[in-house]
Amino acid sequence: MVEVSTSILSIDKEKAVRTFYDLEVAKTDYFHIDVMDGKFVEKNTRKQMKEYALEIKHISNLPLDVHLMVEDIKKNIEDYIPLEPDRITFHIETIKSKEEALEIINLLRENNIKIGIAVNPETDIKEMYDLLEYAHMALVMTVVPGKGGQKLIPETIKKVEVLKEYINLHDLDIDIEVDGGINEETAELAKDAGANILVAGTYITSSDNFKERIEKLK
Ligand code: DX5
Ligand code: ZN
Repeated sequence: MVEVSTSILSIDKEKAVRTFYDLEVAKTDYFHIDVMDGKFVEKNTRKQMKEYALEIKHISNLPLDVHLMVEDIKKNIEDYIPLEPDRITFHIETIKSKEEALEIINLLRENNIKIGIAVNPETDIKEMYDLLEYAHMALVMTVVPGKGGQKLIPETIKKVEVLKEYINLHDLDIDIEVDGGINEETAELAKDAGANILVAGTYITSSDNFKERIEKLK
């Protein structure tokens, strides 16, 4: 079964609460929270994403899928622990050693938060193999992280295929999430390659019919 995680990155402040409500009615499976620190990527969305996540917690029981595009992973995890997210994903590019990764993984485990590990388009997928046995989800970035509304980079689909093969070969139980430039056409490619969670921002939130868009993706 494929699930849809709606990125709330590009939602207008004035319409935010209403939009969150409508997304729940339209049956998004997750809210995808894009936390950026102005260092790992140019934009800084920390304050706004935290406000949005708190608003969502007030009106919805749907799970939060937190995507950290930050250098200081631990500090940002601490920020989200009180919100009881379903999963938190951090980038392999920001990890300096396996020990550091295991510390982060333990922090998430102790707080019953599922573990996601992300790779950028230019990073070799093999970089994450060593940590996959600890992860619940692998996030393959299908655009260079930093902003919504970009075009999917076709080469990233091949990475999903390679990852899926590796997961099958090693009999791992891991979700594969894709993020960036997902629409009804690219969703097809990502699903065929083995992805089972699709993050979509503008494709869903720029429409006036969220339900139709989410169903099309599935
Ligand atoms: C990119 C973010 C994505 C992105 C998705 O840095 O991680 O979640 O905002 O937005 P769309 O679907 O518009 O590419
Ligand atoms: Zn994201």
